[in-house]
Amino acid sequence: MPDPIVIALDGPAASGKGTLAQKIAAHYGFAYLDTGSLYRGVAHLLLQAGEDPRDERLAEAAARRFSLEAVEGADIRTREIGAAASLVAAQPGVRKALLDFQREFARRPPKGAPGAVLDGRDIGTVVCPDATVKFFVVASPQIRARRRFLELKAARPDLTQAEVLADLEERDARDAARANAPMAMAADAELLDTTHLTIEAAFAAARRVIDGVFRRCED
Ligand code: DC
Repeated sequence: MPDPIVIALDGPAASGKGTLAQKIAAHYGFAYLDTGSLYRGVAHLLLQAGEDPRDERLAEAAARRFSLEAVEGADIRTREIGAAASLVAAQPGVRKALLDFQREFARRPPKGAPGAVLDGRDIGTVVCPDATVKFFVVASPQIRARRRFLELKAARPDLTQAEVLADLEERDARDAARANAPMAMAADAELLDTTHLTIEAAFAAARRVIDGVFRRCED
């Protein structure tokens, strides 16, 4: 069996990496893992139990009992869970507990898929440093706040775009400054700035890079 192809997409919140990752996975027939959902899931378990996401012992225990099934159907995309996920994600015990699951997904993608697409903050640097193709997806803070605001506003009509921007900036700063597996661009990653790109244009740019790497691998 050849090694599965792994495509890594890292970058800050609401940069477009999740949408891109899903489109890439659907196009190439690869399995998709949103690794942020693991940290959000752990945060959800803690908040649901009335536990403090800053408590390292409790957070690590929640990460150890975490499974995707345990949070199935829960709305983990809320503003509160996003903030708690970033706190939880800064803790080494939590990251260690979730690392094997992510690596196993990449090594043996579900349903025999020939490849896996993972998006997150440390996929190209820590989780899958040997990924076949790596992207670091960015966009200006204003555009990212706009996109996230439009996503959240139906459920939260009281929310302002300025509040969303403040949340994103606080979260990005924490995700990039933490000592353990901070958000960072791998030296061999392709930088993709989606500020002025439609989803289709960003997807076309990503496909050009991926197809180029595949062609080089075949030669
Ligand atoms: O991508 P997201 O907004 O769903 O991620 C939620 C939080 O999880 C984010 O603030 C940082 C953290 N995270 C991480 O530290 N490492 C990852 N690979 C993915 C997410």
